[in-house]
Amino acid sequence: MRILSGIQPTGQLHIGNYLSTMKQWLDLQQDEECVFPIVDLHAITVPYDFKNFQKIIFERAVEYLACGVNPQKSIIFVQSKVKEHSELCWLLNNITPVGELLRMIQYKEKSKRLGKESASAGLLDYPVLMAADILLYQSDAVPVGEDQKQHVELARIIAKKFNHKFGETFKVPKPLVLKTGAKIMALNDPKKKMSKSAPESCLFLFDEPAVIKKKVMSAITDAGKIIKFDQNKKPGISNLLTIYSLFADIPIKDLEKQFKGKGYAELKKSLIKILTEKLEPFRRKKKELLNREVFVQEILKNGAKRAEVIAKSTMEDVRKKMGLI
Ligand code: AQP
Repeated sequence: MRILSGIQPTGQLHIGNYLSTMKQWLDLQQDEECVFPIVDLHAITVPYDFKNFQKIIFERAVEYLACGVNPQKSIIFVQSKVKEHSELCWLLNNITPVGELLRMIQYKEKSKRLGKESASAGLLDYPVLMAADILLYQSDAVPVGEDQKQHVELARIIAKKFNHKFGETFKVPKPLVLKTGAKIMALNDPKKKMSKSAPESCLFLFDEPAVIKKKVMSAITDAGKIIKFDQNKKPGISNLLTIYSLFADIPIKDLEKQFKGKGYAELKKSLIKILTEKLEPFRRKKKELLNREVFVQEILKNGAKRAEVIAKSTMEDVRKKMGLI
């Protein structure tokens, strides 16, 4: 299988990005052909720090590597370095109904947050660029969190539409969404998704132990005492149990037994211990790699070259099919 999945350089990676998506990468890269762009062209669809953008992109690359993405096996590169992403996006725009884009949940939420004057055409077009990312590499599957599933569904619609109109060209990809961990909720409001663009909602993957402690101890729970998974009545505790279960590799049912008769503070203290231990190697590796800029840039350059070979071959076919050459 060929796998495509990217993360936006909009902010530091949080545990939601890791548990739903990056953890899948680490498993998949063992046996599958994986393409993991840092999707900078997606990140510019909302206001962003353009003065420090190259530094931010570099840090995300370091974080990919620190988490265990293996550049010997997987293709890691910066999306904008392979021009075919933008070209294919433009071509696919012409078979994508605007109505489909207007009903995308992410567009509705982000455009509401930004306001009518600031929500750009690029933000509306985000899912078409994502379809281009996926289809360009003839991807079979796309590991994502719950919030991006709708975009992969749209990529399927676009692929089928293109194939029907211009002749068989693209593979129709499927989303890979985990049963547990596909939507990690905000620590400060467990009814909302943890989101890079709302840093106060996040536990970042590279937070220092003292920060982990502070954030987990102040995570919003409920007034009750019983440690039980119930997403509707106990969203805060359910979120902490989910995070605990995935990092410790213990089923939620077993955690409920383990913490029977114990208070929320005990659960939180134990979770802090697990998170501090599990995330320590990531922090160590990140610190080490931040000092090896040439090495990391070389990985990105090499990744872009490998990606370009696949992208060029697809585009040649697409241009022919569309009568552009
Ligand atoms: N809270 C989350 N729980 C589980 N998975 C999540 N993902 C995002 N948030 C959660 C998944 O992480 C991958 C990378 O996300 P992205 O960078 O492409 O953008 P996003 O989905 O918009 O994620 P964020 O963190 O909310 O970023 P901002 O705030 O910049 O928009 C995706 O597979 C995503 O599903």
